[in-house]
Amino acid sequence: MSAKWLVDSWKSCEAQQQPHYDDAQELNEVLAALRRLPPLVTSWEVDRLKDQLALAQTGRAWLLQGGDCAESFDDCGAESIASKLKVLLQMSLVLLYGSGKKIVRIGRIAGQYAKPRSSNTESREGLTLPSYRGDLINRAPFSIDHRRNNPQLLLRGYERSALTLNFIRALSEGGFADLHHPENWKLTFVAESPECELYQRLVQSLGDALRFIDAISSSPNPDLSRVDFFTSHEALHLPYEQTLTRESVRGTGWYNLGTHFPWIGERTRSIGGAHVEMLRGIRNPVGVKIGPTAKPDEVVDLVRVLNSENEPGRVTIIHRFGSDRVKEVLPGLIEAVTRCGTSVLWCCDPMHGNTVSAAGGRKTRRFGDILSELRSSFAIHRSCGSLLGGVHLELTGENVTECIGGSTGLTEDDLNTAYNSHCDPRLNYEQAMEIAFAIADEIRADR
Ligand code: PEP
Ligand code: CO
Repeated sequence: MSAKWLVDSWKSCEAQQQPHYDDAQELNEVLAALRRLPPLVTSWEVDRLKDQLALAQTGRAWLLQGGDCAESFDDCGAESIASKLKVLLQMSLVLLYGSGKKIVRIGRIAGQYAKPRSSNTESREGLTLPSYRGDLINRAPFSIDHRRNNPQLLLRGYERSALTLNFIRALSEGGFADLHHPENWKLTFVAESPECELYQRLVQSLGDALRFIDAISSSPNPDLSRVDFFTSHEALHLPYEQTLTRESVRGTGWYNLGTHFPWIGERTRSIGGAHVEMLRGIRNPVGVKIGPTAKPDEVVDLVRVLNSENEPGRVTIIHRFGSDRVKEVLPGLIEAVTRCGTSVLWCCDPMHGNTVSAAGGRKTRRFGDILSELRSSFAIHRSCGSLLGGVHLELTGENVTECIGGSTGLTEDDLNTAYNSHCDPRLNYEQAMEIAFAIADEIRADR
């Protein structure tokens, strides 16, 4: 691990979860084409995000990261992108208002197309096919043709990421994100619910505050009419990630310019493994998912390797233990990482440790478990003298029925109504807003 980092030094390490392609030449041609294409983000944006995450580490900002478990190419449309942005903007408004802190918004968006799988194959009615690994690699329908790993999908994924990002940029800079007009972020299907009413009241008093600020300012404040919105995805497919890892023209080192914030998943975070090697040498802020089997010493080593210069904002630990394990595992981890002295941002993913199978075989998550892991995480950090600085959620702005519970009382019987996820179950709009209000309460209690 102390050997010199190169953009392809990951190739000499063991790489988990990589797809095999039958036609190596076709893959190489696609990778060469990707290397000639422009980056999706800039190193200046990446540095700005790192500065904001450094603020979150000190308690002056708070990280809201969320989006689909797996984005799908078919879903790359105006409504779907705008509704994800809408729910994240509404949530960030609740958090901003409740906490008084700057909210750092990162979508699991514009590139979240590759998924780690626990099994290489899937069997249905006597037929066994390769598992679906995300639209970047193969396709979800259960047929031989769809499940073939196809290198051309890497180009399609890059293009879909660019299209998504283009629309996000336009929405974040223009009138859509203007804080004076939160009515732009209204979702059409939303019925009256307690969260809705709370949110409407918040928007009203925000309107009063803004009118006051406008009245006493000599010129309009540009910060109120646009938002910063960053992208993230699991950096899983290493040949793809390598093509977008470029040396900065400013001479400030290598950046993954396919996304602002790449993260390493729970299944690929082994020290000495190829994913850690790939991300240790880039300048981006990086996340690493930590599950309940991780040993504190192992996490300390990981944090040291990923943040060898002890740079604020560089590493975010995204812990995902499950509501039943968090009390047992998190305190020891916080204690070890705090003692080692390397600075990290702590973020809670209350989704991935709380996945259960419903009676019909569908994967689901109980809202109560998600909320409980989140609230326990706040309490544990507080009692360890540490600070929870962010949340990582799987959510959508659509009216899906994938997670059960919450104030609208979805049950297992509702799961078939609108279960649209290709992968893990996501919070729907109302569940996401309920979580946002709960987080705002907790951050207030931290102050
Ligand atoms: C995910 O974020 O979708 C995921 C697979 O998470 P984890 O690596 O924590 O299991
Ligand atoms: Co997931």
